[in-house]
Amino acid sequence: MQVDVRAMVRQLLIKAGGRLSTARLHDARNVLGALAIGNWVAQHPAPSQLLVHHDKTDTYRDALNRLQTPNPLYLEFGVWEGWSLRWWLEHLTAPGARFVGFDSFEGLPEQWRPDYPPGTFAVGAPPAITDSRVSFEVGWFNESLAKFEMPVHDQLFVNIDCTLYSSTATVLEWLEPHLRPGDLIYFDELPEYDHELRAFFEHVERTKLNLVPISQTRGYYWLFQYTT
Ligand SMILES: C[S@@+](CC[C@H](N)C(=O)[O-])C[C@H]1O[C@@H](n2cnc3c(N)ncnc32)[C@H](O)[C@@H]1O
Repeated sequence: MQVDVRAMVRQLLIKAGGRLSTARLHDARNVLGALAIGNWVAQHPAPSQLLVHHDKTDTYRDALNRLQTPNPLYLEFGVWEGWSLRWWLEHLTAPGARFVGFDSFEGLPEQWRPDYPPGTFAVGAPPAITDSRVSFEVGWFNESLAKFEMPVHDQLFVNIDCTLYSSTATVLEWLEPHLRPGDLIYFDELPEYDHELRAFFEHVERTKLNLVPISQTRGYYWLFQYTT
């Protein structure tokens, strides 16, 4: 009799699943996310070596090194209390740089991880940042983007930190006609299989540009540059 290894492994997994919490089950889906990213990167080799770090600000710095134009535009989707926005304001010092932070400030519109229900990250209002280079677009992305006019710029950096598939997909679909070679995009939770990663793969299929992986931190935080 032939041994059906797949069936055996499946039965083992079913048994293991019975012992998992829903939070660990979510983590298990992200194992698939890491495998899928590895698979995609192997099929899309970068011209230069992918930089790998332990601290996500090092991946931010790799982006900063590639943002050397006089009038860069920084768009952040998911501001919350403004931690990442403050980092960028401090480090991207070009006087001609502009920063736009998009957020409802009402928190996640849907459940993310089992322990992140709708409303997580609700803070009510934008952070108290006085830098005159910054403005905020307060509201749900689908509504604020519909009336947003892209400021004049010579290079774009997009910081995707909005956690959910629906939010990320809305942003990426809106973004596609605005993208030019040389622009940069950063994902704060890329291996989240049902969320950022799903929206990322749909974006990769749709966009006419190539995405070149530049830098990643702990496999979770990823920077790409668009090329022709
Ligand atoms: C993880 S937090 C952002 C963290 C922030 N970048 C930082 O450095 O601390 C995610 C944010 O995305 C916002 N968000 C998610 N989906 C949204 C949507 N569809 N429209 C508006 N805001 C959204 C939430 O309100 C939340 O503040």
